Amino acid sequence: MPLLNSAAGYGGLTKALHWVVVALFAVQVGGGLVMTRLPDDAGAAGDALYNWHKTLGLVALAVALVRLWARRAGELPPWAPCLTPRDQRVVHHAENGLYLAMFLMPVSGFVHVMAGGYGVLFAGAVALPNPLPRWEWLALAGKWVHVGGALLLAAALAAHLAVVLRHSLVHRHGLIRRMLPGR
Ligand code: HEM
Ligand code: HEM
Repeated sequence: MPLLNSAAGYGGLTKALHWVVVALFAVQVGGGLVMTRLPDDAGAAGDALYNWHKTLGLVALAVALVRLWARRAGELPPWAPCLTPRDQRVVHHAENGLYLAMFLMPVSGFVHVMAGGYGVLFAGAVALPNPLPRWEWLALAGKWVHVGGALLLAAALAAHLAVVLRHSLVHRHGLIRRMLPGR
């Protein structure tokens, strides 16, 4: 299996990073929902949860950049023959939404914590430099974009899964295999 996408299908890099992002997003959304609902006296455990959320979110941003590069560097495989023109439109818009969310989520989270003066202790060890001055309105804007981005992600993912699962489980066209190892 080649590393980059080609007319024969998605490359190994795209497939591997696709599933790395799925895992990272599952942890991020789960962790985000838990940590924002912790009691005020959660103490060190709460701080650790916030720190790992920020750390893994920035890792997800780096992965998204490599993924976008891989998509541009290779040749996009042709549409799966089982997709109708309507499915193709849904897939296209859903993928745009997913790519937008892959960047919007980490960037808005970063802006929120940096403009709010909370900072990022990367992996619990390295305090990242803060490129932003303390601006309450920017911190608040970052927070609402972060929450809105989560809703965009949910909508795009629902559309993405509706097509993938319908063609994999209901019609049994094996669409899921296009993103699994091998050809
Ligand atoms: C893949 C990337 C990310 C995803 C999917 C994600 C997802 C989420 C979700 C679902 C929430 C809960 C929203 C709520 O109910 O209020 C949240 C909250 C939060 N996220 Fe992220 N996040 C990501 C990256 C980041 C990054 C990179 C940072 C900072 C460097 C960050 C900082 C925060 C903070 C501080 C909160 C709490 C906001 C509040 O006070 O309500 N996130 N995130
Ligand atoms: C956060 C979750 C997800 C994101 C951000 C995401 C994103 C993407 C993107 C952008 C593509 C287009 C190829 C590329 O440029 O990488 C894609 C393709 C694909 N995804 Fe996902 N995806 C997610 C979850 C899932 C899940 C849970 C499944 C399976 C149940 C899945 C199955 C597929 C399949 C089969 C394709 C290939 C579709 C085709 O072109 O025939 N994805 N995904």
